Amino acid sequence: MSQEQWNSKLGFIFAAAGSAIGLGAIWKFPYVAGTGGGGAFFLVFLLFTLLLGAPLLLGEFVIGRRTQSDAITAYQKIALNSYWGWIGKLGVITCFILLSFYSVVGGWIILYLFEAIRGGLNGLSQDQFGPLFGEMISEPITTLFAQFLFILLTILVVAKGVQKGIERASKIMMPALFILFLLLVIRSVSLEGASEGIKFFLYPDFSKLTSEVILLALGQAFFTLSLGVSAMVTYASYLPKTQNLPKSMFSIILMNLLIVLLAGLAIFPGVFSFGLEPDAGPVLIFAVLPAVFSQMQFGLLFFIAFLLLFLFAALTSAFSMIEIIVAAMTRKDRSKRKKATWIAGLSIFVVGIPSCLSYGLMSDVLVFNLTIFDLFDFAVSNVFIPLGALLISIFIPLKLSKSELMEEISLGSKKRKVFFLVWYYLLKYFTPLAIVLVFLDVLGLI
Ligand code: PHE
Repeated sequence: MSQEQWNSKLGFIFAAAGSAIGLGAIWKFPYVAGTGGGGAFFLVFLLFTLLLGAPLLLGEFVIGRRTQSDAITAYQKIALNSYWGWIGKLGVITCFILLSFYSVVGGWIILYLFEAIRGGLNGLSQDQFGPLFGEMISEPITTLFAQFLFILLTILVVAKGVQKGIERASKIMMPALFILFLLLVIRSVSLEGASEGIKFFLYPDFSKLTSEVILLALGQAFFTLSLGVSAMVTYASYLPKTQNLPKSMFSIILMNLLIVLLAGLAIFPGVFSFGLEPDAGPVLIFAVLPAVFSQMQFGLLFFIAFLLLFLFAALTSAFSMIEIIVAAMTRKDRSKRKKATWIAGLSIFVVGIPSCLSYGLMSDVLVFNLTIFDLFDFAVSNVFIPLGALLISIFIPLKLSKSELMEEISLGSKKRKVFFLVWYYLLKYFTPLAIVLVFLDVLGLI
């Protein structure tokens, strides 16, 4: 069977943006920024996104489209050496662990959605959403069921194939998400005392900038763009040679930053206006957003719509995680796609059970002082993903010549020498150096 392809240029951009925009921007960014001191974290995150994330995103696109292969084969094809396939294998393993806890949060959205629909959020005061949510996610059976449902939805869509499933859905839901977010921000920044929150989010207080915060910002920048795990390699492998890669890269970076900005502006004014804590951790947005919505006309209806779109954003990211695994599993025989998706999905669910129970039955089980959920999250976001990013940034200039890279980037776009050189040198020197420095810094070695 020949390689499946995206239906249209825009289809790819939406699907890649769909992979990027998910829990990372909407759920994780605000709470990590909240614990990392707000503005300073945001600024470092922004710099990492532009100086490391953007070049790497284009780099992953280049590998994917050039080889038209799954994450593992892609590196082996370019390097003519199976050893380098380990970059892809690391990506596949990382996505497996990632989806195992990502689906837990996906499940939380489903639970909240049901709760809102059945009227369980009616008449609560602003400080009651947090405790209610905390209680909900400590309940083992319903959370496991919701997590399973999230994975089931992912399996059902991805088993159908890239084009039909992922592309069609993304085209409608992504723009809707933007619009709803915009509404939310308008309400949030006009709350009483909102300016305090805006200041917290946008004004950098550099005294908060510890080595740990810098590592979190680095991990977060790659995480939100789905980098380091070859997700973007896999998606770009379904591209025709006519796609303009630099333009696709810019659109995705822009959309992603916009959502991050909107998420911050929607959440922090609410946090301060209602006297909540910005460092509440993973439950932050679930405690704050319904409170902001409750201040609106038809707030509950808007909140339900928001949760639906939020669920959708999380799903489109989950699709890309399982897609990497499935593409790698079926690289020798594409006809096994359905079976592979089911096997991958169900095993991810099993591995994800302890993460799900980390907020209830297993909350006392600590490894390195972290719950299983936090441990998996830390390992993926701050170790495996930056490590994958480091290896990819070393691989590209090592194994592809400047002229090969120039040729691939110019397919479907104009030859732009200055842009190319800036990209090339950022990727070749700046990216690996910055990642290594951040690692050394956090380990206390410099
Ligand atoms: N970018 C996704 C998000 O922000 C997470 C992700 C990481 C998806 C790596 C695929 C690969 O939610």
